[in-house]
Amino acid sequence: MVNRIFELCSNKKIFLDRELLAFFSDIEFEKVEKILDVLTQVVGERIITKKIFDLHHDKFKDIIDTKKAIKDKEQRVKILKSYNFRSKKIEVSDFINHFRSRFESIKEILEKKNLINLSSIRRIGANSGIYTIIAIIKDKRITKNKNLLIEIEDLTGNSFVLVNRENKELFKIANKLLLDDIVAFKVSGTSRMLFVNDIVFPDSFLEKERYGNADEFVAFCGDFHIGSKMFLEKNLMKFIDWINGEVGDTRQKIIAKKVKYLFLTGDNVDGVSHYPGQEKFLNIKSCRGQYKKFEEILEKIRKDIQIIICPGQHDVVWLGEPQLAIGEKWACGLHKMENIHLVSNPAFVEIADGFKILMYHGASINHFINEIPDIRIGIGHKNPTQVVKEILKRRHLAPTHGLMDYVPNGEKDPLVIDIVPDIIATADQHRAEISCYNNILLISSSCWQSITPFEEKVGNIPDPCKVPLFNLKTREIKIIDFSDDEIKWKEGDNLICKLGDKNV
Ligand SMILES: [Fe+2]
Repeated sequence: MVNRIFELCSNKKIFLDRELLAFFSDIEFEKVEKILDVLTQVVGERIITKKIFDLHHDKFKDIIDTKKAIKDKEQRVKILKSYNFRSKKIEVSDFINHFRSRFESIKEILEKKNLINLSSIRRIGANSGIYTIIAIIKDKRITKNKNLLIEIEDLTGNSFVLVNRENKELFKIANKLLLDDIVAFKVSGTSRMLFVNDIVFPDSFLEKERYGNADEFVAFCGDFHIGSKMFLEKNLMKFIDWINGEVGDTRQKIIAKKVKYLFLTGDNVDGVSHYPGQEKFLNIKSCRGQYKKFEEILEKIRKDIQIIICPGQHDVVWLGEPQLAIGEKWACGLHKMENIHLVSNPAFVEIADGFKILMYHGASINHFINEIPDIRIGIGHKNPTQVVKEILKRRHLAPTHGLMDYVPNGEKDPLVIDIVPDIIATADQHRAEISCYNNILLISSSCWQSITPFEEKVGNIPDPCKVPLFNLKTREIKIIDFSDDEIKWKEGDNLICKLGDKNV
């Protein structure tokens, strides 16, 4: 299609700007011919831009309904949840209501599992028997006999449950419990002391994987860290050139053309004053300057790609989760771009064919790694999506109070995963990885920043410049690698693209 448009323009001795070319490539060629016939008569310019086209769009309303086309594009992204709140004085009652609401939400999920003899701590009382109780973890410790003693609480009272070390499988599961996790315990005994026979997590599960009708790709990026001296601008620009169809071999260009959505999952800029001495690692030292650069880069992306952006810990928003969408005060240009959707962190977004995507930057991932011994000693920071499985099991993005900042919400805890997504997109760990859990796709995006002193200190070695791509129709997944002079598929495909000198 694009080649036919090029040929047509060459015959008419005109040039189109990138935005108009992208717009035309989505409509029938015969209509493009008619529009260009009209345009070349009324416009004396050799270079015809989308702005010129928009100025004259009344002349084409019989050929194409441009307003409808723009509306269609808007309808491609539905923001199901993006949080907003007014700042107010936070009181103790807000935290109490927040936890009560969280307990009720997760209890409701657990109750759907047809738990046998479901009871409450007060109802059990001194009556010895076999029960299931839903409770929050208040504390846990290893006893003298090396058993695990867990203090629990529900809305009716407190109790203790004991996990015997001889039950090795169960002990391993119990050992992974975090403070403030909400789970169901299958127990026997009285409410003074209950012995655990099984632990049921709320868990996330989809009946089947979703397949769409549209042969379109979704690209997942994050952690640009613009403003940092370690920002890998040259590599990012190579990605932008690729997504615009300007570099790559024939097949890579075909795939690039099919990318219709780009998710940017936070840490878009490096920010300022995030840690002592950050200034010496910045080459853009103001937040507005960093967002200006961010806007300039996104402006280069073709306009038929919908870009969905949430903040991360380095963006200029309050650290407590949910973090509000990046404000106009800092990035007014982003608010004016019609293909950009600014959402909170976390956010819930629906795209083509009903694909529901939970975006979460992932500040809690480090806490899961630190708090779960099996993960800390085992995979550490190497496999971020394995950690995200722990999030999905708990149906909560950051369960433990005190480990990270959050904004209490007495009506509904926004960090509860009350709808199971088709895809959960995270970032923060600076490593691209894809895995699947109960028909849910887990995508961790890479970064565009080389290793920082902090990452070196905590032993998190980043894997920058990789972009996971997901096809909505076939569920084909690829990771494309922009870390080197040539564009490579990270795995599963031998296609290698040699770039021309100007792009290297
Ligand atoms: Fe980051």
